[in-house]
Amino acid sequence: MLRQVMLSVALAAVLGTGLVAAEDGAGSVAETIAARRGLMTQLAALQALIDSRLGAADYSAELYDLGQAAAQSLEAFALLLPAQTNLLGGAPAAAGAETTAAAAIWDDLPAFQQLLRDTAAVARQASEAGDIAGFRAEWDKVAAACTTCHESYVFFDPFAAIN
Ligand code: HEC
Repeated sequence: MLRQVMLSVALAAVLGTGLVAAEDGAGSVAETIAARRGLMTQLAALQALIDSRLGAADYSAELYDLGQAAAQSLEAFALLLPAQTNLLGGAPAAAGAETTAAAAIWDDLPAFQQLLRDTAAVARQASEAGDIAGFRAEWDKVAAACTTCHESYVFFDPFAAIN
């Protein structure tokens, strides 16, 4: 049940919006960015669910599905980074499109995509651990990767609120 819910959310986010368009480079910039931001929002929701399952005394079989869904979200994000969505790096503005994805991502896009895939692989290892201690050991690395990546690749304008 949980598995179906989480996977269908991931799939809807990707198929419903920009994935196909992103691959041929001709899609809507706003939709592609909305799709990738949706995947990150979903990752935060998955993280909250995982944290609550890890706080329980007994191993929850749902942890398998949650870890797999997190891995899939990270992998799908890697497909939603066409150059025309590099708005902070000079790509033309598009109606309704807003992003905090830093221009540095496109300095070496393959390396950035690898970072996402490496993090996905760790999430998958957590998922397949089969017990709370093993899951937590791997998931801690995923949580650290969220923070490290955001520090380097997510741009927040400290003056945005007062402009
Ligand atoms: C390899 C880099 C990378 C990793 C790993 C990563 N993120 Fe992100 N995250 C980003 C980028 C880039 C954005 C900005 C997306 C945009 O605005 O287009 C972002 C944005 C977000 C946002 C804001 C979404 C919005 O509405 O704009 C949240 C929440 C988030 N990430 C959560 C997470 C969580 C939770 C994890 C770990 C489980 C994670 N991220 C792992 C790169 C990463």
